[in-house]
Amino acid sequence: MRLTASQIERFEEDGFLILPGLFSPQEVAVLRDAMPALCAEDTPANIREKGSREVRTAMGIHLRHPAFAKLARHPRLIEPAFQLRGERLYIQQAKVNTKPAFEGEVWQWHYDFATHHAEDGVPEPLALNLHVFLDDVVDFNGPLYFIPGSHRHGPAPARLDTETTSYPLWVVDRDTVARLVAARGLVAATGAAGTALIFGDCLVHASPSNLSPWDRRIFSVIVNPIANALTRHDRPDWKHHRDLTPIVPLADDCLAAAPAIAAQ
Ligand code: SIN
Ligand code: MN
Repeated sequence: MRLTASQIERFEEDGFLILPGLFSPQEVAVLRDAMPALCAEDTPANIREKGSREVRTAMGIHLRHPAFAKLARHPRLIEPAFQLRGERLYIQQAKVNTKPAFEGEVWQWHYDFATHHAEDGVPEPLALNLHVFLDDVVDFNGPLYFIPGSHRHGPAPARLDTETTSYPLWVVDRDTVARLVAARGLVAATGAAGTALIFGDCLVHASPSNLSPWDRRIFSVIVNPIANALTRHDRPDWKHHRDLTPIVPLADDCLAAAPAIAAQ
């Protein structure tokens, strides 16, 4: 899949794209079916909420299930990333942020590059965050909030927050958020399951807790140019993978294709 010139222009202007219906209900079903067993695994890559101990984020997911290995290399995600950042990209991080019904907690105001730079020594804000909704994401179950154009102000001041949630994050202060929102407002990134998002490393975003009775699971793969790879290796591999092998996109029907049957 290729982005049109006007989509690329919008990405440069707003800092994100919402692509409704990029994956079919059948493709999403394959991914959803894998989730209960993955969340039940006892692994440090399943990071749990402080209070409920529900899984907050299931990390290293492309190394834990073949369907997510395919999604992380899916041409409908990776070809647009190639258009925006060139063809030598590696998988920096792949996960499902689960935000379960009633229990899913906030992601504070932040932009991803603050963490990538401070924790992993990534030189430039060139990574792209590619999301796929595994559930319908509506106003009530904790959608991402984007501040359009916030990436154009350059990296905002950020500080490490280890208190608010179980996931340490470099966050942006309220005055900065208020100033950025005053310029262009807010967008809630909602859409049916199968919707995709593409956003850049300096876009300021957040998401509220999930008070609704509906789960909100979102797959995320962060891809980064190999020439812009991490220079520090302090965090675990599942937070920033060391494998810098260039991503090779798979076939468009890779998620739908039935597993090969061994010859008798
Ligand atoms: C979320 O899952 O709501 C937050 C995702 C992100 O910060 O990229
Ligand atoms: Mn983020």
